[in-house]
Amino acid sequence: MSITISPSLLSVDFLELKVELERLNKIDDLWLHLDVMDAHFVPNLTFGEPVLNKVKTVSKHKLDAHFMVSDPDFFAENFKNVGLHNFTFHWEAITHHDRLIQKLKEMYPSVGISLNPSTPVSAIPHYILGKVDLVLLMSVNPGFGGQKFIPEVVDKVIELDQIRHKNNFQFQIQVDGGINDQNAGYLIQAGANNLVAGSYIFSEPTKDYASRINKIR
Ligand code: DX5
Ligand code: ZN
Repeated sequence: MSITISPSLLSVDFLELKVELERLNKIDDLWLHLDVMDAHFVPNLTFGEPVLNKVKTVSKHKLDAHFMVSDPDFFAENFKNVGLHNFTFHWEAITHHDRLIQKLKEMYPSVGISLNPSTPVSAIPHYILGKVDLVLLMSVNPGFGGQKFIPEVVDKVIELDQIRHKNNFQFQIQVDGGINDQNAGYLIQAGANNLVAGSYIFSEPTKDYASRINKIR
């Protein structure tokens, strides 16, 4: 499987949003990771549908939305015309996972589920894993960019990759939080094939984001 890098919009200079998106447009094979937070599921508030409608007019990349929200069902409706490629919601946020996945499948090309660091892989039944396109394992507690990587996630990636192989499931394994050139190799070796990175990429002093992205790859 090839490795997809999904730079997180959370770490861009928002005063230069258009220019930052144009910088990313010069790099191929990226997803653009969009952290939607509701100040309820996580203690932070980011951007919503009006901002992302503008983002999509500039970015050439597939839009990868990570909903850290208590009511993903509401956001599914609210975002249906934004042109998202992937819609990921948090397993911990809701009860009727299967129902929401069926609904999302009718609206979005790719559907993902995300686990907080403290939620075990075994929380998701295999019949659900057979229905999703992506599983996002958080390697920080969601809510903020620039946090420290929690190394125990590597074992979760290995466990999930084994389940994927044994059952011939097709989902991508995405990891998000504190990713840099020091830990990316371990994650890829463990079976991750989609890595989100924010502060590591966008803190490059000369704004040569391609160099940081290549180091992760
Ligand atoms: C955190 C977000 C991440 C965040 C990653 O809750 O889900 O996507 O932007 O940022 P870094 O790479 O700085 O940890
Ligand atoms: Zn994220």
